[in-house]
Amino acid sequence: MRHQSVLAYANFRYLKVATLAIAAAVFGYIWYAPPTGRYGGSAMGYTLGTVGALLIVWLLWFGVRKRQFASTTGTLLGWLSAHVYLGTSLLVIATLHAAFELGINVHTLAYALMVAVILSGFYGVYAYLRFPAIMTENLREDTLDSLLLKMADLDRQARAIALGLPDQANKLVLAAAQQTRIGGSWRRQWSGRDPECATTAAVNGLQALGRTLRGEQARANQQLYTLLLRKQELLARARRDVALKARLDLWLYVHVPLSVGLLAALIAHVISVFFYW
Ligand code: HEM
Ligand code: HEM
Repeated sequence: MRHQSVLAYANFRYLKVATLAIAAAVFGYIWYAPPTGRYGGSAMGYTLGTVGALLIVWLLWFGVRKRQFASTTGTLLGWLSAHVYLGTSLLVIATLHAAFELGINVHTLAYALMVAVILSGFYGVYAYLRFPAIMTENLREDTLDSLLLKMADLDRQARAIALGLPDQANKLVLAAAQQTRIGGSWRRQWSGRDPECATTAAVNGLQALGRTLRGEQARANQQLYTLLLRKQELLARARRDVALKARLDLWLYVHVPLSVGLLAALIAHVISVFFYW
């Protein structure tokens, strides 16, 4: 199971590799003290910078490797585990390369983009480890499609009952059937809520209407209200499913474009450094 073992893959092999890489970088940084002081342009600075840049190119390569289904170099799970741990080790390697010299320049832009990519990666791992189980629990025996079918069925029943009630009830029930939205814009999907939900409006409207009705109509209204409450519950689960899927996917729209930005800033950094040499 990919989602369970990304971090523990092969008995934490890549955690060990990354820890060794970090230890070597820290050792090299402390051990090598040039008379000019530690900085990105010292021999150790160049070494750490080159290792960092190679790591970044390799991490970017993951986007290609992910799509090479026929490749035989390692499993995707192994690649992802290495990606996560070695990607994280960059935080130390690049910081020591720069010898903690951050300012307002293209070098620090590369550094800031790198940190942003890594932080979005942390979120991605959290999402992969946590959300699939919550999704299963939320859907239980249903799928998104079966929830939609059940809701359509409740709408049909509600419209039949509403025929014996005042116009206002018919309008509310019709709007709930036709104007209830699941998903929509990215923000809407992500939040899993709709402040203008037509079903919620119908539930509230029917409750108010119920106070003005008597006898048979009051009973029918109560029945309608119960149906729509049930729909509201299914709707909340459907929206939650969409929200969890969005939270599982949308972060990659931060991670990947920022990685490409990082590559551009890194090229600018290296070129500018050689230009002033
Ligand atoms: C081939 C790889 C690299 C080379 C040759 C390289 C080269 C250098 C050099 C020569 C300096 C010293 C500049 C100076 O103090 O004037 C430096 C500083 C720096 N590098 Fe790199 N670098 C590389 C990779 C990276 C990477 C991967 C990052 C982070 C994403 C990075 C971020 C920085 C930062 C933040 C500084 C400090 C800038 C400052 O002193 O204001 N470098 N680099
Ligand atoms: C500078 C460092 C990094 C770069 C340049 C980078 C770049 C990439 C790229 C290009 C992809 C492929 C996305 C795609 O094509 O769909 C990817 C996926 C991913 N990265 Fe990173 N990454 C970095 C660091 C990290 C870190 C530190 C973590 C976690 C701690 C991480 C977690 C992930 C995850 C979970 C995926 C998704 C894999 C999948 O959907 O199959 N990344 N990264």
